[in-house]
Amino acid sequence: MKILVTGGAGFIGSNLLQLLVPSHPEHLFLNFDKLGYAGNLQSLKEIESAPNYRFLRLDLVDGDSVSQTVGDFQPDLVIHLAAESHVDRSIHGPRAFVESNIVGTFNLLEACRQHWGGDSSKRFHHVSTDEVYGSLGDEGFFTEETSYDPSSPYSATKAASDHLVRAYARTYGLNVTVTNCSNNYGPRQFPEKLIPLMILNCLDRKPLPIYGKGLNVRDWLYVDDHCRAIWKVATEAHPGQTYNIGGNSERTNRQMVDAICAVVAGKIGVPASDLTSLITRVADRPGHDHRYAIDASKVKTDLGWEPQETLESGLEKTVDWYLGNTDWVSAVRDGSYRTWIEQNYAAR
Ligand code: NAD
Ligand code: TYD
Repeated sequence: MKILVTGGAGFIGSNLLQLLVPSHPEHLFLNFDKLGYAGNLQSLKEIESAPNYRFLRLDLVDGDSVSQTVGDFQPDLVIHLAAESHVDRSIHGPRAFVESNIVGTFNLLEACRQHWGGDSSKRFHHVSTDEVYGSLGDEGFFTEETSYDPSSPYSATKAASDHLVRAYARTYGLNVTVTNCSNNYGPRQFPEKLIPLMILNCLDRKPLPIYGKGLNVRDWLYVDDHCRAIWKVATEAHPGQTYNIGGNSERTNRQMVDAICAVVAGKIGVPASDLTSLITRVADRPGHDHRYAIDASKVKTDLGWEPQETLESGLEKTVDWYLGNTDWVSAVRDGSYRTWIEQNYAAR
């Protein structure tokens, strides 16, 4: 099969390609990514010369180039991850989210509609978030039937892209599947998100900023577990199906930061209190969703997917990765990963 992965230089996309490229030599993978701030080719160095892997720098907002690329490559499967992904950035600058997440998804859908010409053996798998459902109270779970009620510009643009994907299935008969997943963590995540930010700030003995009271709850999933779910749904699910993917690992932000401090402290041989004393309460995020929690029973029943990592084993692997990959960390922190990209890849 020829598989087009968008956003493959980002956090989840790079972990997905690191998992799939070596284990599926029978498939050819084309990664296309605009290499925005979260796109990092150093996250792909282990597979960059694999014979079944190609990279193309491309912005999904450029509809003509997207159409040309899809026409040239003729993918059998598209796994669409490219998006602006950080809620705080969407609050400060929502336009980029509308462009990449809505217009970008629209351009990709149009290109597939145009070049697949109604061939229902070709599939479009859309990777989305549980944040489209809005916020839960202290009880209950998101199911695939939960109504959409997004709070942030990020989640509103992801909701819009989900609607476009489903509209292309109903109106044009495109063979689509959708996954809505809870918060991911693991190697290669840009250190603006909670978990890598806290790990790196612990190592630098910098303040650990917790929004509001730290009582907001997230359901954490190790990234490889998400990647295995994406692959299962994209290759095994019936057309038109949606699956919620979650880790069954709910924690308040304060509990999560305490857990990170404990793991990092153990690794570097200091008392955990040296690190928890860095916790600083800061102003809350506007529109901050209180709680996310996923009912993942449908994907378990239909496809037999379950997470393989516990929060404890996943956190340990994640901290080990950040401790062991100081080149990646320092290139991201001092910005030199961008210089390398600009010198090596001109945009088309
Ligand atoms: P990320 O920000 O780390 O990576 C996104 C990638 O998309 C980057 O490499 C970026 O350069 C690329 N990109 C952005 N706009 C583009 C455009 N216009 N054209 C081409 N490439 C573009 O994000 P992530 O955490 O890896 O998330 C990937 C996908 O998974 C997103 O669609 C996100 O909504 C979804 N998701 C993420 C999480 C999570 O916890 N991180 C959870 C559920 C779903
Ligand atoms: P984040 O990793 O940005 O993911 P999302 O907003 O998509 O859930 O944030 C996870 C939780 O951690 C969220 O409730 C906001 C909170 N948070 C902090 O308290 N401090 C921080 O510095 C960051 C980045 C997030």
